[in-house]
Amino acid sequence: MNAGADGPVRQFARFARFARADFFSIGNQDMSTPQRDIIVREVGLRDGLQIHPTFMPTASKLAWIKSEALAGVSEIEVTSFVPPKLIAQFADASDVCHGAIQLKDLVVSALIPNLKGAQRGLELGVNKLNYVVSVSQTHNLKNVRRARAESMADFKAIVELIKTLPKDQRPFIGAGLSTALGCSYEGKIAVSEVVFCAEQLLEAGADEIVVCDTVGYANPAQVRQVMKAVLGVAAHVPVAAHFHDTRGTGLANVTAALDCGIKYFDASLGGLGGCPFAPGASGNIVMEDLCFMLDAMGLRTGVNLDALLTTRQSMSESLSDLKLHGALARAGLPHGFVSTWEAMAA
Ligand code: COA
Ligand code: ZN
Repeated sequence: MNAGADGPVRQFARFARFARADFFSIGNQDMSTPQRDIIVREVGLRDGLQIHPTFMPTASKLAWIKSEALAGVSEIEVTSFVPPKLIAQFADASDVCHGAIQLKDLVVSALIPNLKGAQRGLELGVNKLNYVVSVSQTHNLKNVRRARAESMADFKAIVELIKTLPKDQRPFIGAGLSTALGCSYEGKIAVSEVVFCAEQLLEAGADEIVVCDTVGYANPAQVRQVMKAVLGVAAHVPVAAHFHDTRGTGLANVTAALDCGIKYFDASLGGLGGCPFAPGASGNIVMEDLCFMLDAMGLRTGVNLDALLTTRQSMSESLSDLKLHGALARAGLPHGFVSTWEAMAA
């Protein structure tokens, strides 16, 4: 297994201390001790591309990853370990991982739907594995072709497999609760079901719980209710939010999650995204708009907004049929806007 010079755990620990000096020397700004109040994670290369019919060339994926990492995004879900027969977009998963883990201090994560996906991730030495199980029994069957209880059993086996590695070579194992805020097959999802699933994953050994609004049904009041309930059982384990903006409530849901103390947010450049196995699914919250909103609220993300917009532009040019969303790219920064980035450098 290629775990890199430091091993993924130490790399991740460095991120936890937000020490990425080399990445923060842009232009004449010396941001040698950057601080982050919020961690934003790019998921467009997985969630965005999994629903996109055209294959993005591997070199373009790697250019996107590098550019966004240089813009200050510290964690990127670079691919998905699913059968290429099922989603051809990820036929180059190995090459993408090999390239991404060369980037110093980037937390490289990948989606896994089962034990086989975990084995592939371990062989490649990715820093973090993002397991997915749906709270909705129907969505779990459609998405990963097994009952929810079987997915829970699979998760336990994955954690056991990871534990066979020396401690400094173990990747982080995140557990995503898909359809936690609503399902396009089952409709409303009971909070008690979300908590029940979270508890099982925590008991099995999840390093992180991700509450996912897979089909964009959530509203801020519901987000408060669900986040509080999950935080109530998560104890010291971080809880992250994964929102889709299908019905325009994405950033409002972020503010609700912030009020609950959530510090980790998934988003995708240009708002790409959607689950191919959930009817009506569409894009994630827009990374640029999320970073702008957080920055304007005085919350440090470590992301350079200009560099992020440049990344968006070059990414959009790599595939002609990508349909990007986003208000910041359309409207630009407000007159006289001073980012926390610039304020810190002053
Ligand atoms: N990566 C690569 N190949 C895999 C694999 C993985 N993670 N998991 C299974 N396979 C292969 C098996 O080796 C087998 O290959 P073979 O036909 O050459 O023998 C084949 O796929 C079927 O394996 P099986 O275990 O029966 O899988 P399945 O057909 O029941 O499908 C999943 C189960 C989980 C692999 C599939 O439903 C899946 O990938 N779902 C994820 C969907 C997704 O990405 N949703 C969006 C993100 S939330
Ligand atoms: Zn998603």
